[in-house]
Amino acid sequence: MRTNRNADIIPQVDGLAYGGDYNPEQWDRDTWDEDLRLMHEAGVNLVSVNIFAWAGINPAPDVWDFTRLDAVMDHLHSGGIRADLATATASPPPWFSQRHPETLPVDAEGHRLHYGARAEYCPNAPAYQAAVVEMASRLAERYADHPALAMWHVGNEYYRSCYCDASATAFQTWLQDRHGDLDGLNHAWGTTFWSQTYTDWTQVLPPRQCAETPAPGLILDWRRFCSDALLKLFRSEAQAIEQHSPDKPITTNLMVSGDFAVLDYHRWGPHVTGPNRLVATDHYLIPDGPIPWPAQVAFGADASRGLAGGDPWLLMEQASNSSAWRRGYFAKKPGDQLRHSLSYVARGSEGAMFFQWRASRYGAERYHSAMLPHGGTDSRVWREITAFGAQLKRIAEVKGSAVESRAAILLDFESVWASDTPGQPSADMGAYPELRRWHSALWHRGVTADLVDPSWDLDRYAYVFAPSLYLLDDDAHLRAYVEQGGTLVVGPYSGVVDRNDHVHPGLPGALRDLIGVRVEEFVPVPKGDKVALDDGTEGQTWTEVAHALDAEVVASFADYPGTAAVFRRSLGRGEVWYLSTRPVDLDPLFERIGLAPDFPGVPTGLELVRRKHEDGRSYVFAINHTDDPHPVPATGTDLLTGTAWTPDRDLDPGEAAVISER
Ligand code: GLA
Repeated sequence: MRTNRNADIIPQVDGLAYGGDYNPEQWDRDTWDEDLRLMHEAGVNLVSVNIFAWAGINPAPDVWDFTRLDAVMDHLHSGGIRADLATATASPPPWFSQRHPETLPVDAEGHRLHYGARAEYCPNAPAYQAAVVEMASRLAERYADHPALAMWHVGNEYYRSCYCDASATAFQTWLQDRHGDLDGLNHAWGTTFWSQTYTDWTQVLPPRQCAETPAPGLILDWRRFCSDALLKLFRSEAQAIEQHSPDKPITTNLMVSGDFAVLDYHRWGPHVTGPNRLVATDHYLIPDGPIPWPAQVAFGADASRGLAGGDPWLLMEQASNSSAWRRGYFAKKPGDQLRHSLSYVARGSEGAMFFQWRASRYGAERYHSAMLPHGGTDSRVWREITAFGAQLKRIAEVKGSAVESRAAILLDFESVWASDTPGQPSADMGAYPELRRWHSALWHRGVTADLVDPSWDLDRYAYVFAPSLYLLDDDAHLRAYVEQGGTLVVGPYSGVVDRNDHVHPGLPGALRDLIGVRVEEFVPVPKGDKVALDDGTEGQTWTEVAHALDAEVVASFADYPGTAAVFRRSLGRGEVWYLSTRPVDLDPLFERIGLAPDFPGVPTGLELVRRKHEDGRSYVFAINHTDDPHPVPATGTDLLTGTAWTPDRDLDPGEAAVISER
C-alpha cells in the first residue's frame, strides 16, 4: 500500500460518478435530447463515450471525421454531463482489417480469425500498434481542453492474445530480455525434458497446438508476455494522450473481478495508479455457482481496491439486470442493483457505472440490460436507477475516503496461471476458485479483506491469508511480515515451484523453513469426497503427508495416524499457520486464529464496511442482505434518509444505510 494516497481520482466529476457506456452513434438526435433529459432525471454525471466508434471517426484510410464526436461532446457539455472519453481502439472496422489482414488474430491452432466482431486485433501487429497511437494522439489533441472531458478511457477490456508469426518474433525478443541468452531460456524451461533444447531464437514459438503438453515454463512465460504486450499497447496510447492532455486522469476498464485472469494486474498496477491514473474495473456477476452475489460483488471490489493500493477506484461497468453473454438470460431481484451498487461504493469505488446507458436495439448485445431498458422509464430497473442516482448525491461526501481493512488475501497472478498449467497432480487445485472461496468465507464472517500482491507492504494487516500461493521464489517478505507481528495462514500446495515452474527441492520448498513443516507427498482427494480431521473438522480436494519440523501440530487426519493437517508456528512477534488440506468449513480456522468480525456480533448477510477520511470523518455502510431486520452498531446520521442512527435501530431486510459517524 502506498503512503501517499491519491484521494481525488476524478476531480472533474462533482461528487460520486454515476452513468454508463453511452453510444449515441446508435441513435438519432431526438433520442440524444431525450437522453440528456433522462440522464438528469437519473442523476447521471459521467458517461463513457466513443468506446466502439472507430468506424465513424476514421471511416477510411487517412480520412478523419470528428463531426459526430464534436457534437456528442458539445451535447454532453450543454447538459452538464462529463465524458469518460474512449480512444475507440478496441474494435477496428472492416476496412482496417481488410487493408491489414496481418492484424487479425491467429489462434493456437494457427487459424487466423475473420473480422466481423470486436477485439479483432493482434497486440503485436505493427500496423495496429501504429494505428492506436495515431488515434489516441488525434483524439487527445482535439479534445484535451474540451469542457466536457473528465478523463480518458484507453481501449476496452484488454484480453486479446495472438499466436501469429509477428507475435512469435515479439515473444522471442521479450524472452531475450527476460532470460538473456538461450542457455538461460533452456534452463528456465527445462528443455532437456523431451529433448526440446533450442539452438536458435527463431526456433522458439508461442505455445501453439502441439502433439502433447509443451513445457509449463513456456506456457507461463507466454502468459506473462501476453499480459506485457497488452500493457505495452495501453502505455503507448496513454503516452500519446499525455503529450496533449497531461492533466486529465487516464484509465482503462480492467476485469479485476476474478473471471478473467488474463492480465497480471499487479504488473499493470504502477501504470494505472498514481497521479492522473485510476483503477477502473468491470464486473459482471456469475448467475449461479457457490458464491452468493453480494459476496461476488465484494470480491470484485476488494480486488480492485487491492490493485489500487488503497486509493479509491471506480466501478466502470456492471449490469443493471441480465448480462446477455452470461449463461442465459437472468434477472436481478428487486433491490439487488441498489444493494450491489452501494456495496461497490462501500468498498472504495468512487461511484457506480454501467454497461450501458440505453439498451441497444440491435447488435450482439441487444438483450443486455441497461440503465434505461427496452421497457422504458415505466419499469422497475429505471425506478431503481433513479433511486440510486439520488442516493449517490446524498452520500457524495464519502468521496475520497478510504476503506478500513485488517485482513488481506494474497492474490498472485503467476500462481494462478502456474497452478492452471497442464500436468498438475490434481485438476482441482487451481488458485483462483480457492481464493474466491476464502474471500467468500471472510465475507460471510463479516471481515473486509483486501486482495493484494504478495510482494506488497503487508504490515498494515493483522491477518494475511495465502490460500493458494503455488509459485514463490523465497519466503523473505512473508517471514518479515510474521516476525514483525503478523498472523499468516498458508493453504496447501503453496511455495511448491519457483518463478520458472521448477519444483523446489524439499517440499514445500520456498515455505518449508518459514512454516516449519516437511511435506513427504501429495495425496489429492477425489471431487466430492471429504477427509476427517481429529478435531471434528473436514478437509477436501487435497491432502499432504506432512510432518512438523519446527511447528506445533494443531490437528491431524483422523484416519492416517502420523500425518498432520493443521500446523502452527510462533516466529518473532507473530505466528504462521499451515494447512495440508483444504478445509471444507473455514470458520473453525478463523475462530482458532482469533479472527473476529469487523463489527462483532453482527449476523452473516448484514454487510458492514467503514470508509474513513484522513481528517477522521467516517462512515459505516450497512446493507441488509438477509430476510430479517437487524440492528446496526453505529451512531450518527444516516445520510440516505437524513435521520439519526443509534445502535439499537434496526435496518430492515433488503435496506441500506450510510451512517456518518459521530
Ligand atoms: C464488457 C464490455 C462492454 C459490454 C459488456 C457487456 O464489459 O466492456 O462493451 O460488452 O461487457 O456485459
